[in-house]
Amino acid sequence: AALIDPEAADPGLKHFPLARTCPFSPPPEYREFEQDRAQLVGIPSGERAWALARHEDVRAMLNDSRFSSDRFNPGFPMLFNDGGRGRTPKIKPSLINLDPPVHGQARRSVVGEFTVKRMKALQPRIQEIVDTQLDAMLAGDRPADLVTALSLPVPSLVICEQLGVPYADHEFFQTHSSNFLDRQATVDQREAATVEMRDYLSGLVAAKEATPTDDLLGRQIEKLRAEGTYDHDELVGLAFLLLIAGHETTANMISLGTVALLENPDQLELIKQDPGKTLDAVEELLRYFTIAEFATSRVATEDVDIAGVTIRAGQGVLGLSHAANFDPETFAEPDRLDFTRGARHHVAFGYGVHQCLGQNLARLELRIVFDTLFRRIPTLRLAVPFEQLPFKHESSIFGLHCLPVAW
Ligand code: HEM
Repeated sequence: AALIDPEAADPGLKHFPLARTCPFSPPPEYREFEQDRAQLVGIPSGERAWALARHEDVRAMLNDSRFSSDRFNPGFPMLFNDGGRGRTPKIKPSLINLDPPVHGQARRSVVGEFTVKRMKALQPRIQEIVDTQLDAMLAGDRPADLVTALSLPVPSLVICEQLGVPYADHEFFQTHSSNFLDRQATVDQREAATVEMRDYLSGLVAAKEATPTDDLLGRQIEKLRAEGTYDHDELVGLAFLLLIAGHETTANMISLGTVALLENPDQLELIKQDPGKTLDAVEELLRYFTIAEFATSRVATEDVDIAGVTIRAGQGVLGLSHAANFDPETFAEPDRLDFTRGARHHVAFGYGVHQCLGQNLARLELRIVFDTLFRRIPTLRLAVPFEQLPFKHESSIFGLHCLPVAW
């Protein structure tokens, strides 16, 4: 395997994060990975990290315990300005930042809250939430903003009810989440968002410690206390992760998926004719947009031979899930949105031990939303030209700021 000096000058260096020039495609530079499957690239800290773009390489990396998820490990490739080394974490790390064996223990403790069976039980309530939001939208002015009418409230209400967080506080946590995910925010702004959310959730968890509640956070307190492993700050860390991951991701997929369906009427027709196909459509839309592509970054803890190179201990790695989901060897004609292709092996939810904990919930919400939206409003259309839609190019989670629609 070739060993490349990470400090060597390289005029052709790609600087990450790269922009999507078309909201429906990965950055055009990803095509160059077809010749060169692993590349050293520049990241905002001024350091270099390895970028892997092939589906098989990204999966192999994510399934290899020699790569760490610890964001506070020096060398972890941050795609926003994190203030450099030596900043102390403002919140106790949770699942997504943990390595085995601590990760496995933490995940086993909560995984029972996200089983397929549990999600099935949530189905009627999610349907009710979607219908209520659509009732209000239909009764309101046209055009409407689908983001505020549907995309944000549906997953926010669902995760609030699941965790036991009051939905009345949605403006507070939605604003702070989006500041936390904004790559253009300063370190101080990100930290302020983290601290305010942490303090808010800490108060909420303290109240549940005093008065037990039958919700995810309340049940965790009871269970972990019985096991003798309960830790307040750990639960606050988990609540923070679940609250952000639970609404921002799915909200953006609802908005982007709706645009893709409106722009691809032949594909929309497939699910209108047969709602049984909507789950396939959801998988393909997840592949197509890969909204959380840098969630699959890692740092090597040992020297590892992979993708034809040797990644040295301490070097950062970007598992480019968006590139992997457009790998033509895995997904033929990847630029074509094709609900019939069978896209379930995409890596939009990651792969390996950290694979998305909320994936069954996300799938369920997306299926119900798309089925209900186009059944109830078959004449739905964009209220502005596609070119004027404000895509979230600056966020860690790709999506839309607003989505004007009419019918
Ligand atoms: C992990 C994407 C929805 C909770 C992940 C990862 C990705 C991802 C790529 C892997 C991160 C890694 O490898 O380190 C998405 C997308 C979603 C979505 C695209 C929606 C369309 C949700 C929802 C929840 C959630 C609804 C919670 C209710 C989590 C958690 C983890 C995670 C807790 C960390 C799991 C672990 O490290 O063990 N997600 N997610 N996600 N996601 Fe999601």
